Formats: sequence, structure tokens, C-alpha cells
Amino acid sequence: MDTEFVTREQSRLLQELTEFLAIPSISALPQHAADCRRAADWLMADLRRLGCPVVTLIEGEGHPIVWAEGPEVPGAPTLLIYGHYDVQPVDPVDEWHTPPFEATVRDGKLFARGTADDKGQVFCLLRAYEAIRDGDGRPPLNVRFIFEGEEECGGHFLDALLTREPERTKADAVLVCDMSYYAPGIPGVYTALRGLCYAEINVRTLQRDLHSGTYGGVAPNAIETLIRVLAELKDEDGRIHLPKLYKSVVPPTKAERRDWKRLPFKKREYLKEEVTALALTGLKKYSVFERTWALPTFEIHGIKGGFVGDGAKTVIPASATAKVSLRLVPGLSFQRVARDLERAVRAVAPKYAEVSVKVLHGADPVQVDTGHPAFAVLDEAFREIVGKPAVRVRAGGSIPIVPRLGTAGAPVLLTGIGLPDDGLHSPNEKLDLRQLWEGIAVFGRFMERFAAVRPAG
Ligand code: BES
Ligand code: MN
Repeated sequence: MDTEFVTREQSRLLQELTEFLAIPSISALPQHAADCRRAADWLMADLRRLGCPVVTLIEGEGHPIVWAEGPEVPGAPTLLIYGHYDVQPVDPVDEWHTPPFEATVRDGKLFARGTADDKGQVFCLLRAYEAIRDGDGRPPLNVRFIFEGEEECGGHFLDALLTREPERTKADAVLVCDMSYYAPGIPGVYTALRGLCYAEINVRTLQRDLHSGTYGGVAPNAIETLIRVLAELKDEDGRIHLPKLYKSVVPPTKAERRDWKRLPFKKREYLKEEVTALALTGLKKYSVFERTWALPTFEIHGIKGGFVGDGAKTVIPASATAKVSLRLVPGLSFQRVARDLERAVRAVAPKYAEVSVKVLHGADPVQVDTGHPAFAVLDEAFREIVGKPAVRVRAGGSIPIVPRLGTAGAPVLLTGIGLPDDGLHSPNEKLDLRQLWEGIAVFGRFMERFAAVRPAG
């Protein structure tokens, strides 16, 4: 690997990443569809510049997918690199200290939407690849790239593509760089991701909004009814009331629990600096790791209905909708939880209310066995550059496509260069530049070391 690469090219790299981050590729908002396409175009141009003989835009229902293949290297193993170019919406936009799509360096950190999740990490892998090519631009291994634009919005386009063309996942390993170190100086590799079941619950109690004086006292209020329904689904202690939910959970192994106990963890700092609350909530008899990695959740993301404008309006709302989701852990499938949620809502709704549950999207949970030799190669790269192998942890978040990436049997390496306080999905998302520069070296060395492994079959 060109060890001077980062030092020599730093200002160019920062400029290029800034350009990529300036494209507001918010996949959930229809008015940004053209921007998603522009982000895909940016990647294609980059991959062409890096000498990939195959660079294609796959279009269909949803935001486009970028597929690229590096030059063929006979006899060398094949690495499939996955990432997403789409980002989350930026609201509340007033809370950003600098505009979300004008990347700004402060205190060695790069602030912009997508810096950590996931454009900055995609960029890191592209530059690692750039740095391992020889004088003629040839890499030492076969690399395929697949970048999607619907990871953050629950789109199905990539899932449909890989179901139709599973041979695209044929590789000796799949590398997913969309997560973070466990802590500064402690890289992580992930043994599980939670799944998801995202739904809208609507309650209608009246045909139209009513005067709250004239009818207050007799007319059923849709927001109040919705709140009662939601309160039935999860109690104050954090217990979710879906049938057999906890019985189905596959608990972490003893070895996992023991590993987690050894992880450095300061509850007070975690509470103050990361969670930014006065107290933690949830099932108190389980540790924070168990609650965020190994147990299901139920969260209310937003409630729509009634009057929310400035000033006062005396009205009884006729309809109210809550956006909710459950995070799923091994033992809980998306399909089953979707069915149980719908049933539970119907069971607790009062007779006077019309309720509907619309499942918007979901994903199954994932478990990864890190015993495959590819993980040892990754550990070696971390050891060489960071001084430590990756700790085995789980993720509370989800990456819906991950189960599909493993369909052809390749081990899926879930890792990343972020830090826990990057603020994914929050205002002032950032990436520490040190992490980026270090990450380029880590993944460059990983690819070189992996190139030397004899491919299976
Ligand atoms: N990069 C995250 C997933 C993640 C978060 C992994 C934290 C590890 C730790 C990813 O881009 C993401 O946010 N996914 C969404 C998926 C959802 C919209 C289907 C998520 O988890 O909410
Ligand atoms: Mn992500």
C-alpha cells in the first residue's frame, strides 16, 4: 500500500468528500429523488476514475443502484463492498451549527449529514481501494462494489435485485462499513444487527373534527384513543405486550455476555454524553448492552393529528396516526412481529374506534459467526494500524439488506470507522477525520492482506 497516500492527498480527499456530501441524497423525501441520482452519478464517476472496467447504474423501482467491478485478477480472491449513498432527513435543521450539506471541519471533525452514515465510510473504502492499486492502477484482488440509495428509507429495490440475481453476492467476503468503533481506539466487528418492523397505526373515532365545547364530554377523541392504544403496547417498565415476544428471543450466549462484561463502559458518561438524558429507561433487570443489542424495542417516532399550528384551536380530533417501530433480535422475524402487532392493536382498541395498521417496511435480524478466516484478516489489519484487533459487539441498528448479502455463502464483515458519538440521524452528524485517515489505512491493509488469502474452491 502507498503509505504516503493519506498524508500526500489529504486536501484533495477532503475536497472530494465535501463534494459528495454536498449532494442532499435524502432517500425518504420524494423531492430529493434527483439528488439521489446525482449521488449515484458521483460514485460512478469516481469508480470510473479508479479504473473499474465495469460501472453500471441499475435503475428500476426506487433509487438507483451502482454496481462496479474492478479489473479481473485471476486466481485472487473476490471482495464485495457494500455501502449506501442515501442519507437521513436533516430536521430539526435549526439545530445544525453549520448547514447539513456544507461539510465543515471543526476541531478535527467533519460535520455534515452522511459523514458517518454512510457516505464518509463509502468514501473511505473507495480511497483505500485507490491506495492499494499498483503503478498501472491494478489492484491485487477482485473487488466488486454495490452501493444502494434506499438503505435509510426501507426501499426494496436492492432486495429485489439480489433475489433475482443472487450471483452478484458470490464473493470470498462481503465488507460492510456502516458502523462504528466500540470506542476511540477500540475497533469493532459486529456479531448481530437488529431487525425492524416499521408501521403506522391509525385511529379514527369521528367522521370529522368537532367543537370541543359543544361535544367535549361525549365525543371520542382520536388522539386520546391512540395514546391509550400505544400505552397498552408498552408499559412503563419498558415491557412490550405482544404475545410470546420475549419467549421467542434467542438469548445471547454465556460467552457473549462474558465478553460484554469486559467491555469498558461508563454508565454515567453514557447517560450524560451519549443519551443526553437524566435517567435510562427500559427493562431494568437487563444491562444496557442487553437492552440495546439483544432485546426487542418498541418506539413511537411521531404522532400526527389534531391541531399543531401556532396559537389555540378548540377541537376534538377525528383521526390520529402514530409512526412506530419495533427493533427485532434473533428469534423474532419481521413477518411474525408485523402480524402480531396488527393483532395486538386490534385487541386493545376500544369498540368505538376504527383502527388500521399499515406496515411500511421491515427487516429480519442478523447473526454473524466471526469464526471465518476473513475476520482474522480484518483483525490483523486493525492490529497493524490501530494496535488492537476488533472487539466483538452487536449493533442496535439495522441494515436491512445484510441477510441477502450473505445468500451466496460469503461471510459478511460488519464494521466501520465511526465513533459512538457521531450523531447518526441527528443534527450535527460528524466523522472524526482521524478515523477517516486511519480507516483508509486499515481497509487498504485489509484488502492487501485478504488478497494474499487463497480463495475457496
Ligand atoms: N448505519 C445505520 C445502522 C447502524 C446504526 C449500525 C448504528 C450500527 C449502529 C444504518 O444506516 C441505519 O440507520 N439503518 C436504519 C435502517 C432502517 C431505516 C430500515 C436504522 O437502523 O434505523
Ligand atoms: Mn448507515
